[in-house]
Amino acid sequence: VSYSEEELYRPNFHFTPKKAWMNDPNGMFYYNGYYHLYYQYHPESNVWGPMHWGHAISTDMISWIEQPIALYPDELGTIFSGSAVVDIGNTSGFGEVSNAAPIVAIYTNSKQLEGDDNWKQTQSIAYSNDEGKTFTKFENNPVIDNDKIKDFRDPKVSWDEERNKWVMVLAAGDKIMFYDSKDLKKWNLLSEFGQGIGGHGGVWECPDLFKLPVLGTDESKWVLFVSINPGGPNGGSATQYFIGDFDGTTFTMDKEFESSLSKEHNYWIDFGRDNYAGVTWSNATRKDGSKLMLGWMSNWFYAQKVPTEAWRSAMTIAREVQLQKNENGYRLLMNPVKELSNYRSIKYKKENIEVNTDTKLIDSNAIDLARAEIKFNISNLNEEGFTFSLTNKKGDSLAFGFNHNDKNFFVDRRKSGKIDFEERFADRISTAKRTSLNKDLSGTIIIDKTSLEIFFDNGETVMTEIFFPNAPFEKLSIKPEVKEFTLSKIEINELNF
Ligand code: FRU
Repeated sequence: VSYSEEELYRPNFHFTPKKAWMNDPNGMFYYNGYYHLYYQYHPESNVWGPMHWGHAISTDMISWIEQPIALYPDELGTIFSGSAVVDIGNTSGFGEVSNAAPIVAIYTNSKQLEGDDNWKQTQSIAYSNDEGKTFTKFENNPVIDNDKIKDFRDPKVSWDEERNKWVMVLAAGDKIMFYDSKDLKKWNLLSEFGQGIGGHGGVWECPDLFKLPVLGTDESKWVLFVSINPGGPNGGSATQYFIGDFDGTTFTMDKEFESSLSKEHNYWIDFGRDNYAGVTWSNATRKDGSKLMLGWMSNWFYAQKVPTEAWRSAMTIAREVQLQKNENGYRLLMNPVKELSNYRSIKYKKENIEVNTDTKLIDSNAIDLARAEIKFNISNLNEEGFTFSLTNKKGDSLAFGFNHNDKNFFVDRRKSGKIDFEERFADRISTAKRTSLNKDLSGTIIIDKTSLEIFFDNGETVMTEIFFPNAPFEKLSIKPEVKEFTLSKIEINELNF
């Protein structure tokens, strides 16, 4: 059998552009029944180049319909990452339609100057009076000029309800700058954050700032996302987070969170190598206060070389972000959005499986493992570890699980198929420390043709990785690390699209 690139690698349900290069998600907002996703897009090629904003819409963040390109480069430069807000109060004065709010996009213009490694990055805005279909650029752009700072980009704007103003977080070198505005046009610098804090192995990019309720309490905390490239926990691109308070001017880290930063490095939204530049949707907070986000499912180490030609890159599954306080202090919980469960079809379910050797769980005759959701629970793991394997007839295998010696979760794609397009794609096993050891080990695993997203322990530790097998994976098995254990519960759902 030979498979086409399309059959083998185009995800079944993760967003990919029909053709050409994509990176970061941009301008995500919800309005009038639709979730909007814009993205860094180079329509002329399958590698990075002059950036546009591509566009897609969805009613549930799972099934996407691609739209015409929303923003094209202009005389101020190409269009880098940024955000969009629903200007419900028409604070900008851009509104022209009664009964509809203007949508305002805030993005970076990046202009190449003379010399290879030299550019001018400024912040600009554009508005839409047709719910995000088309945008008009503001005549007085840029709204934040800049001649000094080389990397100065990725504005994320949100409405500060307590203080009735817009707040912007912006990446500047390896710091975050905070601004505020009453009208989205005139911006005031408030403060900076980041010196000597968190990871500094690379440049800081794509920040986000939002408030979350602490589960089961009346308390709320502020969360700051900062993507960093390189410098991720398993190499290359990754997104770190900080928990603290924002008083309208300054972000201050929670003391306990700050002290745990230096001890353990548990502050990544995802320990896999393929979740970058993720930010939350504007105007889409759930009733329970949780936020919605997705990320770019790739890594700058190898993104431009992965073995797809017609298109490059997918987005992660959309995720719900919550905040808990446990024995480690404040920690985020991330799980797939509940809308994904509407796609469940054929189900396989079993309890109390004794695992003492390599044990087959299911194959693709029963459930298509190229579009599956797996939920498992192990109530009595004791001193044992385990490995799940996905395999195919070509001898490829993808392994993931938990190692009892070092208490690490892991994903091993070293034998997962095509790996030699870039050395750093499979130069190591990705690992993540398990945070809560004294409870049932549970997980939700989302498998699409070329991606694995694992949400361990109710979303306390997440690992997302892509892979490129030579034929579809068609068998799922599990084996113990040393002796034996009981797989208390497993449920596998084929997902239909
Ligand atoms: C992150 C990033 C952003 C920038 C964009 C350019 O992946 O480098 O900082 O705005 O990509 O495409």
